[in-house]
Amino acid sequence: MITINEHYLKLQASYLFSDIARRVAAFQEKNPQIEVIKLGIGDVTKPLPAACISAFHKAIDEMAVDSSFRGYGPEQGYAFLREAIATHDFQARGADIGADEIFVSDGAKCDTGNIQELFSQQTRIAIPDPVYPVYLDTNVMAGRTGSYKDGRYEGIVYLDSTWENNFVPSLPEQKVDLIYLCFPNNPTGSTITKAELQNWVEYARETNALILFDAAYEVFIRDESLPRSIYEIPGAKEVAIEFRSYSKNAGFTGTRCAYTVVPKECRAYDSMGTKQLLHPLWNRRHCTKFNGVSYPVQRAAEATYSAEGKVQVRELADYYLKNAALVRQEMAHLNFRFVGGENSPYVWIDGGRDSWEFFDMLLNKAGVVCTPGAGFGRCGNGYIRISAFNSPENVQKAMTRIREALS
Ligand code: MLT
Repeated sequence: MITINEHYLKLQASYLFSDIARRVAAFQEKNPQIEVIKLGIGDVTKPLPAACISAFHKAIDEMAVDSSFRGYGPEQGYAFLREAIATHDFQARGADIGADEIFVSDGAKCDTGNIQELFSQQTRIAIPDPVYPVYLDTNVMAGRTGSYKDGRYEGIVYLDSTWENNFVPSLPEQKVDLIYLCFPNNPTGSTITKAELQNWVEYARETNALILFDAAYEVFIRDESLPRSIYEIPGAKEVAIEFRSYSKNAGFTGTRCAYTVVPKECRAYDSMGTKQLLHPLWNRRHCTKFNGVSYPVQRAAEATYSAEGKVQVRELADYYLKNAALVRQEMAHLNFRFVGGENSPYVWIDGGRDSWEFFDMLLNKAGVVCTPGAGFGRCGNGYIRISAFNSPENVQKAMTRIREALS
């Protein structure tokens, strides 16, 4: 008899964004005349930068010719992209990361979801609340939690991110082994200072823990004092894995390209307490289960580091940050308290009511889709997340509709 992985039965009914999409589709079916404005899922709306498009075209032309056609590429990514990443994303900022420490992949969602395979079932996991649901759900699937009770899974150490701690969680009181951090944060849009991140790195070093640092939104950082990478912090290479993506900086949500950095000295321990390096383990996993990102996509990603590509990527982020400023302005006008939107495309708003109720009200009365904070964890209840990924015209229209709906 074939039996199932019963840990899946512990999961909440559906993935947050699928749930929202279903509610929006039902609303749209009943109200086909209403033009719904989507400020929910963080999906980009602008086309790829021109530099990426021309590199993409050129690479496709290469694939059409015997002499330049390419079959399977290296699982870890082509050297041209890995070298560009190491030079521009790390070494240029004083972070000593080499090309051979980078694994190119098809998404930070997949990588942040898959990385937990490297760790034992007994791993004690610390996860911020609110949080990007992938970190939590993939550990539930793997059987590292108990059941879901009162909005939380047993066995997880939740790190509350609240108004009181400026949405930067404090170090855990109990012992943990694996810590998920994401800055600029999804969903709150909050940021972490170098000093705060240094505390986490020191904690991981002192307690033999490991940090999984999701930096998918670093392109939105405008405060130059903030760290863009955890490897800007001394001592981080031994205790941190970092995830990056081309989705939000260069509009690759549908094109798919990302990377994970596993430094050569990054370590965990076996059951005897002997140090084991994570780089060869992730390399083994990557080569076994992944066959690389397509050549044209990697060439398009490489183009983000060209002189014109850098300007275009910056302009794209500025475009969405202007929308975030519009959202902040309107929320201030409506007297809501909020964070985010300055170094992040997300604005996190205290709606002063149940967040699904607020979501439904905005959908039904304003035709605007946001993301209910409760979908990101118990501490998210009472909040909604508004994403800046849309056109300025639509964001302005959405803000006017929200103002009318609330008046
Ligand atoms: C979000 O809206 O939180 C993100 O778009 C989800 C993702 O990047 O997978």
